[in-house]
Amino acid sequence: MSRTAHLLRHRGHAHGSGHDQHDNSAFEGPDAARRYARMTWLMRPLYNRIAADIAAGTPHGARVLDIGTGPGQLLVALARRRPDLSLTGVDVSAGMIDVAAARLGDRADAVVGDAGDLPFPDDSFDLVVTSFSLHHWPDVPAAAAEIVRVLRPDGHLGVYDFHRGPFDDLTRALEAQPGLAGRTVRRGRMPGHLPLHLFDRLVC
Ligand SMILES: C[S@@+](CC[C@H](N)C(=O)[O-])C[C@H]1O[C@@H](n2cnc3c(N)ncnc32)[C@H](O)[C@@H]1O
Repeated sequence: MSRTAHLLRHRGHAHGSGHDQHDNSAFEGPDAARRYARMTWLMRPLYNRIAADIAAGTPHGARVLDIGTGPGQLLVALARRRPDLSLTGVDVSAGMIDVAAARLGDRADAVVGDAGDLPFPDDSFDLVVTSFSLHHWPDVPAAAAEIVRVLRPDGHLGVYDFHRGPFDDLTRALEAQPGLAGRTVRRGRMPGHLPLHLFDRLVC
């Protein structure tokens, strides 16, 4: 059966909060999504670097969720490296999900949904990743609770974002999750040899 976009109109409860970084209007609509897709295509080396980092530590056949997948550039890079992985992208913007679904075809599921209210059952994924989306989430604690809920108990998380992103908020929220008791949340510079400290990675 073809795995195409599930264009679920999900509750966008967290938008329009008044904070610029939470204003996702730049990502809404087909034109905005296509413009952003062109930009991420030009930035393929960065996504390839992140995909290589993820691919290196992910077991065979793992189920991977990319939150705030946008036009799916990270999943495209991951799919090339790891044909064995089962890939899902979720994004609050239906325009982005249309583009991601068109690019990924049968290689991934692409689903509309909010990080703070993920449309997946408990324990659905072995790995949750997200790139350059965290700093747009209006309710980081709600997203942290949702990430832990959809991850299997032995699952892992990889978050890639700007150094100035809300990593401290996410760390606090993850450490407060009973489901992660005894696990270590580690944040550091994104692996690779970028001359400037622009990006960080959080793993758990
Ligand atoms: C800067 S783009 C990053 C897209 C992609 N991850 C990448 O690295 O190119 C941010 C994405 O996060 C999505 N987003 C923002 N808030 C979200 C939320 N609460 N839940 C899910 N996706 C969200 C936006 O719609 C947008 O596609």
